[in-house]
Formats: sequence, C-alpha cells, structure tokens
Amino acid sequence: MKRLTPPRFAFLLAATALRSASAEPPMADVIRDDLAFAAAQYTRLLDRLPDQAGHPRSFEKGELKLVKPTDWTSGFFPGALWLLFEATGDAKWREAAAKYTANLEAAKLNRSTHDVGFVLYTSYGNGLRLTGNPAYRDVLLTGAESLSTRFNPVVGSIQSWDERHGWKFPVIIDNLMNLELLTWAARAGATPRYRDIAIAHADTTLRNHYRPDGSSIHVVDYDPITGAIRARVTHQGAADSSAWSRGQAWGLYGYTMMFRETKKPAYLAQAQKIAAFLLHHPRLPADKIPYWDFDAPGIPNEPRDASAAAIMSSALLELRTFVDTTTAAAYTAFAEQQLRSLSSPAYRAQPGEDGCLLLMHSTGNLPQGGEIDVPIVYADYYFLQGLLRDRTGLK
Ligand code: GLY
Repeated sequence: MKRLTPPRFAFLLAATALRSASAEPPMADVIRDDLAFAAAQYTRLLDRLPDQAGHPRSFEKGELKLVKPTDWTSGFFPGALWLLFEATGDAKWREAAAKYTANLEAAKLNRSTHDVGFVLYTSYGNGLRLTGNPAYRDVLLTGAESLSTRFNPVVGSIQSWDERHGWKFPVIIDNLMNLELLTWAARAGATPRYRDIAIAHADTTLRNHYRPDGSSIHVVDYDPITGAIRARVTHQGAADSSAWSRGQAWGLYGYTMMFRETKKPAYLAQAQKIAAFLLHHPRLPADKIPYWDFDAPGIPNEPRDASAAAIMSSALLELRTFVDTTTAAAYTAFAEQQLRSLSSPAYRAQPGEDGCLLLMHSTGNLPQGGEIDVPIVYADYYFLQGLLRDRTGLK
C-alpha cells in the first residue's frame, strides 16, 4: 500500500478533521463500521495464516511477523479474536479464539518474565470471561502463582525483566498491566497475597516511576537486597527524562484498572493526573494520536504510535465511569476523538492490506529500530476493547 509522507499525511489529517467537523457520523455508526471491518479483516487474516505456525504480531517490510507463544505479544491475537466473539456473538470467533488460546497454556509456568500477565489475561482471561470454561480458570490461577514468584518484598515490586543491560532488578512501567491477573486471581479464590502484591507494586511504582507533572519513567532499576533505587532510565523512549507515549498509556490504563480492582483513592487520583498530562499536552497532535514519545527530538517529523492512542482511549472509556459527569464527558469526547482518528483512512488499514491487521502507524521500539510506524497487534486489541467499551456506554 502507498505510504504517506509526513506533510501529505498532515494535510490529509487536516482535511479529514475539516470534513468531520461539518458532518461527523454518530459514534454508534463509527463503531458498527469498525467492528464490521475488523471481522472482515481478521477473517482474511485467519484464512491466510498457516495452521499453528505462530501468532501475528506486526507487519513490517511487507511481511507478517508471526511469534511463538513465549513472545510477550502472543496473547493479543487470541484476545482480539475473543473480542470479536463478544462483538458479534458468532461462534466462528469463539472457535478460532479457543484454538489460538490453547497454544499459550505453557506460559502459565513461565517464571522468567512479568509478561505472563499480558500473555494469559488477554487470551485465557477473555476466554474465561466470555465462556466460563473452568479449564481457563485453572491456567490463569497457575499463571498468577508464576507471576507472584517475581515479587520482592524488600523492593515492594515484581521484577519485570531478569538481569540485563547492567540492571539487577528492572521494573518497567508496563508491568502495571500485569497486576490484573493477580487481583483477578485473589478475587477468584486464590490467596489474598496476590492482591497485596499487586497493591504493593502499584504503590511502589507510583512513588518511584512518576514525576511531579504526571509523566512516568520507563525503567526503574532496584537493588534486590536493599531495595534502593540504582537507576531511573528509559529503554524504549527517547531519553531518560522523556515521556515515552506507550508507557504513559500503560500507566493510565494500569491505575484506572487498579482503582476498579481496589477502590483505593490514590489510584483514581493518579489515573486522573496522568489523563491531565496526556489530554492537555502541548505536543499532542490535533488528531490526538501521540508521537511515539512526547519528547521525541524531531517533532513534528516523528512517527506516531497508534497503539498508545488505542490503549489511552480504552483506559479513558473506563476511567469515565469513576468520575463526575463533567469530567466523564471530557474523557469520553477525547477518547472518541481518538477512536474516530484511528477509524479514519489515515490510520485504519485498507481491506486485505497491512498484513490484514486493523491499524497502521504504531511504533514498538524506535531506539532499537524495531517496528517503527507499522501495524502491531496490540494496537488492534485495545482498539477493539475501546470500541466495545464505548458501545456499552452508548447503549
Ligand atoms: N513491553 C511492552 C511494550 O513494548 O509496550
């Protein structure tokens, strides 16, 4: 497919904005159209996938990248299939989702990464929510136990990655997302210790990852013996002092989810603080799709990160349910602007193009040169989740 250069891209976005200002279709129509597109696009994707060869992750340099169950993104494809089942009620999606979910069972025993939460809660978690299958529950409970083994009470955190890059006990902001597996497990009858671990991790992250303006640092490295902070740095962002966009989105989603799970006021306050940082950021483009880092040096000639926008919009559509009506209306308006942008031709893939993923223009890991300005499956997952959350609000 023809790629848009930045100036032409900006012109098209402005034209789209002008058109939509005059005659914006109702949000319900946008959602209906997106879900129909997603079902058609993922039908093509399923038809093209070689049986059991791997899970789609991204589309780069003309090739669909498939990953093994051990990859941190492997849950998003079955997760998206479950969301399509939820959207349509069509058993075809339940069958496909169950098949790709089953590939991931071994992740429940993986004690070498925090990503067990991403892998299992998107796949088995949605599967359990939508089918009640007790076998899914068992996998999730075992996965929660594996994740809990990475908690260090002296640090007060789960260790995200094993030792690497000279770090001894790195905790990344993304790790907040994996706490949902633990709070769910505690609610599902496992030890209440899992909930305590999730709360301790969220509290420690709030203290040590966050700056006064509501932005977050990507990586905090701790001494596992004393709990002292060894470094505050970035891995996927533009600089140690910058606001890496997806990290900000993970934090917004994470504290919103942790407020839902615990009702601790500090988490709601933090989610709102992050929202204020993001919604009013002077370098947020008019279409509300962030550059890959809010402090990227070449703005406005920097790639966007549609995945950060998808995560943000989904988070805001939950956060609106916890705040007063005026604030809720502002969050809804912002999230719907993001969903409308993602639904426009500037971001939504063309039928049969872009590896048959749903959204273009995500940026995975720019400093390491990986997945820059390409379709990535986790953008699709949170886009679908955001559409469903908004659809529920519109009913
Ligand atoms: N590690 C998750 C991410 O790249 O956002």
